[in-house]
Amino acid sequence: MKERILVTGGTGYIGSHTVVELQNAGYEVIIVDNLSNSRADVVDNIGQITGIRPAFEQVDCLDYAGLEAVFAKYEGIKGIIHFAASKAVGESVQKPLLYYRNNIVSLINILELMPKYGVEGIIFSSSCTVYGQPDQLPVTEEAPIKKAESPYGNTKQINEEIIRDTIHSGSPISAILLRYFNPIGAHPSALLGELPNGVPQNLIPYLTQTAIGIREKLSVFGDDYNTPDGSCIRDFINVVDLAKAHVVAIHRILEKKQAEQVEVFNIGTGRGVSVLELINAFEKSTGVKLNYQIVGRRAGDIEQVWANPERANKVLGWKAEASLEDTLLSAWKWQLRLRERGIQ
Ligand code: UD1
Repeated sequence: MKERILVTGGTGYIGSHTVVELQNAGYEVIIVDNLSNSRADVVDNIGQITGIRPAFEQVDCLDYAGLEAVFAKYEGIKGIIHFAASKAVGESVQKPLLYYRNNIVSLINILELMPKYGVEGIIFSSSCTVYGQPDQLPVTEEAPIKKAESPYGNTKQINEEIIRDTIHSGSPISAILLRYFNPIGAHPSALLGELPNGVPQNLIPYLTQTAIGIREKLSVFGDDYNTPDGSCIRDFINVVDLAKAHVVAIHRILEKKQAEQVEVFNIGTGRGVSVLELINAFEKSTGVKLNYQIVGRRAGDIEQVWANPERANKVLGWKAEASLEDTLLSAWKWQLRLRERGIQ
């Protein structure tokens, strides 16, 4: 029988790509999502790509009883991949309680239900934001956790601690914390991708919306950083590569291959790319000229961060494979498809 995996936030950007890869790897997936930042037709699109329509339950992870009903309905769930969370850095500064409640209570509900229903392990979506501006680059998992710059970042740190404390207290579950760098791109089919609500805050959706004419100009936040071209540097990781990291991680938990009950991995390419380099790469790979201007720095931005992904490469046997050019092309094709569908 196929092993059952519950994916919270499974209709979201990273979640939907991960559901595809889980199904391709032979897992049975149940999606839980409240659709607060995604569309129900994502489930159809996953079905179109994989030939299997995953089970979908519209439930908010804050709703303990609703969540419990899902565990009871789908007996024998083996593992959980927990994506469901609020993720806008700026909004979290405006609405800290919303962020603390959504992100923290959801996790607590899941951790309480897991042992009750015999669920063995959880993969948690963490972020390189936990490192702040690292003292050494590329950053390894051993780098110190720095004080969070936003309530959003703080929820990632707190949630990592909640998972560690729960396991140290004797909970029988296992966990893998994946610290993502900057996920970008879309599924090569252009059936899945990033669909931000309102004006995008992140670089790639703003960039592709500018390229297609929805936005007039992309603002590059700062060219006076201490980097070769003065713009910020990030580790841009293809979303399908990132999705595949979850498949190997859940496999590791279910096969009981973990060296420790809680493990943490950086999920990045190991390559730092500046914002201006990214714009150049986009223009080159798509042939589309981008209207952009340099403006002042954005408050709270880290100057430069990229991963040392060696632990994930060696221990998980996972490696980022897609080229930056192909990834940017996939983001562009997704934006074109959204226009065809009359969405954006
Ligand atoms: C942020 C969070 C990260 C979170 C991610 C997704 C921090 C430090 N990082 O990443 O944890 O997972 O958002 O929500 O909290 N830029 C522009 N113009 C734009 C938009 C962005 O120049 O219109 C620049 C930014 O200044 C930055 C880079 O592009 O240097 C990437 O920005 P963004 O896509 O927002 O991601 P992060 O801030 O790196």
